[in-house]
Amino acid sequence: MKSKYINLKDNQNYEKIKEPAQAIKQGNLVLFPTETVYGIGANALDEKAVKKIYEAKGRASDNPLIAHISNLEMLKKLVTEIGEREKKLIEKFWPGPLTIIFNKSNIVPNIITAGLETVAIRMPSNEIAKRLIEYSGVPIAAPSANISGKPSGTIVEDILEELDGKVEYIIDGGMVDIGLESTVIRVIDGKVHILRPGKITKEDIESLGIEVEIEKQILGKYEEGEKVLSPGIKYKHYAPNTKCILVYSNNNEKMVEKINEVSNEKNAVILCRTSNLEKYNATNKLAMGNTLEEICNNIFTLLRKVDKYNAEIVLIEGVQKDGLGLAIMNRLLRACAYNYIEIEE
Ligand code: TXA
Ligand code: MG
Repeated sequence: MKSKYINLKDNQNYEKIKEPAQAIKQGNLVLFPTETVYGIGANALDEKAVKKIYEAKGRASDNPLIAHISNLEMLKKLVTEIGEREKKLIEKFWPGPLTIIFNKSNIVPNIITAGLETVAIRMPSNEIAKRLIEYSGVPIAAPSANISGKPSGTIVEDILEELDGKVEYIIDGGMVDIGLESTVIRVIDGKVHILRPGKITKEDIESLGIEVEIEKQILGKYEEGEKVLSPGIKYKHYAPNTKCILVYSNNNEKMVEKINEVSNEKNAVILCRTSNLEKYNATNKLAMGNTLEEICNNIFTLLRKVDKYNAEIVLIEGVQKDGLGLAIMNRLLRACAYNYIEIEE
């Protein structure tokens, strides 16, 4: 069966969200937009419904989900306490692309936390997401919309083929705003640990006078058996089937030179800044945009495109690893299975 499709791309008929909200209440799945990426949602308090998410995505059962809420009353019911630092973060960044880990209350089913004592919570700012939660009256558990391992969906066209029929409703809100998943943090001993980098950066959090530590696995490879604060780090993600190599230098000309050198010997696809497009000899080139925001917007769609070229290799330009660049490099390193060349200035 095909999913029921609701078009909210070019109109604001938000009344239409009431039907899928009903479906959530009844224990079914709904694909919906958030400001970061699309999500596959289910009633977070309904164990059977949440199980359907894991089935639809083919997701490992030890990888927990984020509960999405639309008001602070919902938050209070899901957690045991809200610390001072968490209160500051909520005030500054919610609704928005920040996921906070809390100690879970008894009403949170084990299936959404994959058995952990903590639960990840986010209040999205996207109008459709907000209303879907509000109309259904329950917190919505939602992972990124993609089959496990694939790039997250930022536009319905990219994920229609793999998810059509696996959810009751598809709400199409057009292209998302940000294009990368939320920043995931946890406060430990007064310090914010960034478990997954995103639009809310280390610098943004530090501006509140809070100390921040970036988990080392964000830019390094996860080694089998290693202790992790976020189970998601263990799994292959975002990688195309074609071998990808990430190349970066603070010196743009050196980066271009290296990519040309590698691609000259191979049938390659190049993902580069729009401003560098002309500098490459290869025939297959895809523009990522110029600013970090544009790269976020385009990167998942482009990673989904590269396999269509049947190339031997995909060469991807890196970016500087701070601010929003850290989030981009985290996703790209994983897409490239940590095949990374960095050239000194
Ligand atoms: O932007 C987003 O966060 C999107 C949209 C739909 O909201 N959602 C999303 O969900 O990216 P997902 O399931 O693809 O990623 C959730 C990440 C995973 O890496 C998971 O391991 C981590 O959050 N996570 C969830 N609960 C956790 C917990 N209790 N402790 C540590 N990490 C947790
Ligand atoms: Mg995901």
